[in-house]
Amino acid sequence: MIKGNGKFSYFWDLWIAISATFYAVEIPFRLVMHYSPSPMMVVLEFLIISSFIADIFIHFFTTVRVNGKWTDDKATIAKKYLKSWFVIDLIAAVPLGFFFLPAGSMAFMFSRLPKIIKVLRLFHYKSKWEYSINLNPGLINLGFFFYFLFLFIHWSACGWMEIKIAEYGTTLLKDYIVSFYYIITTVTTIGYGDLSPDKTRMVEVIYVMGIQLLGAGSYGYIIGNIATLIANIDIAKVHHRERVERVNTFMKSKKFPGELQERVNHYYDYLWTTREGYDDSAILEELPESFKYEFALLLNKGILEKVPMFKGADSTLLKEIVLCLKPCVYTPGDAICTFGEIGDKMFFINKGTVEVVSADGKQVYANLKDGDFFGEIALLLQQPRNATIRATDYCDLYSLNKESFDTVIHHYPDFEKNIKEMAQERMNKK
Ligand code: CMP
Repeated sequence: MIKGNGKFSYFWDLWIAISATFYAVEIPFRLVMHYSPSPMMVVLEFLIISSFIADIFIHFFTTVRVNGKWTDDKATIAKKYLKSWFVIDLIAAVPLGFFFLPAGSMAFMFSRLPKIIKVLRLFHYKSKWEYSINLNPGLINLGFFFYFLFLFIHWSACGWMEIKIAEYGTTLLKDYIVSFYYIITTVTTIGYGDLSPDKTRMVEVIYVMGIQLLGAGSYGYIIGNIATLIANIDIAKVHHRERVERVNTFMKSKKFPGELQERVNHYYDYLWTTREGYDDSAILEELPESFKYEFALLLNKGILEKVPMFKGADSTLLKEIVLCLKPCVYTPGDAICTFGEIGDKMFFINKGTVEVVSADGKQVYANLKDGDFFGEIALLLQQPRNATIRATDYCDLYSLNKESFDTVIHHYPDFEKNIKEMAQERMNKK
């Protein structure tokens, strides 16, 4: 069996998509230009037809996704394929003209026309590739739209040449380019007026009317889509800017001191440069339970590796802690804890530096950096904060609230022992 989401399948689909595009362009072009194909072209055509035939067989042996799960059950695969793309693939693959019609004859060239239907397959590939290509879906949709718009313009230009054949006489590449130009100006509603249908020939007038109608529709589609696409391309940045603007308007309306406004703006700048404005805990909250642990482990991996106490700790303890850690950010000068206040959480430093100072701020007891923790004494001894902690740099911290702290120390006596020893040491130093 061939894996539907495997490498071979993707390359094969790509080859079929390129072949179908080649046919969609070349078949109508040859029909109006009446040229005879070069030997190279004949070989290429033979290769494409063989690929279209092989494509049908390959599909019977390629795993498919049913209700989100890949299956290799042959009956299910056949049933799904026969009900969906089989007819289109068959029409595109049958080389009837090759057997019954003289090559180069008009009838032979018309018999090739149904093969163009194979381009519809691109809709199937699109939904398949959307899973694997890491691109904005709006961008993929727009790419597809332009692809089919180009084909539509090409087909219309070929049709226009056929209508104008009496005027052009023998068709030349130059006539095709002029037709293509005319259709583009009509479809994009530019219409310079340098070319227009001959009003005495109804077939020309009706043809151009049809193109104008389709053109107006697709023009609206392009404008609408490009606007939403640009708005959505950097959705995180848009959200972040909105948030900052809201806070700034609020601070201005309440006439907050300029220095505070500046600090708030620095905070948001830092938030954007370090985590593109994403709030880890809000994203974690939205996830189903089954993913939470894996996500939290990946997000908080850095801190688990930095804090010496966590190194070599029991994996169940890590699991418990990792889900309770909440990221928070402080800017230089912020008081993270204040002497004498009731403490309801402790902190781990992921990045940045803080200083432990006396109540009046004159004496510095210690400087703490990446991997250190603080605020544990108030939780252990149920007493007010015994020092003030001030950020001396931008600080990325993780907080652990009292409830989670109590659960963790209750279940893991080793953790409790380590943290108590550290707290004792700190209290002795003061
Ligand atoms: P807590 O009392 O909850 O709040 C202030 C914190 O400062 C305290 O917990 C300790 O974590 C920390 N701390 C106090 N004294 C020292 C010290 N000498 N060295 C390092 N950290 C300290």
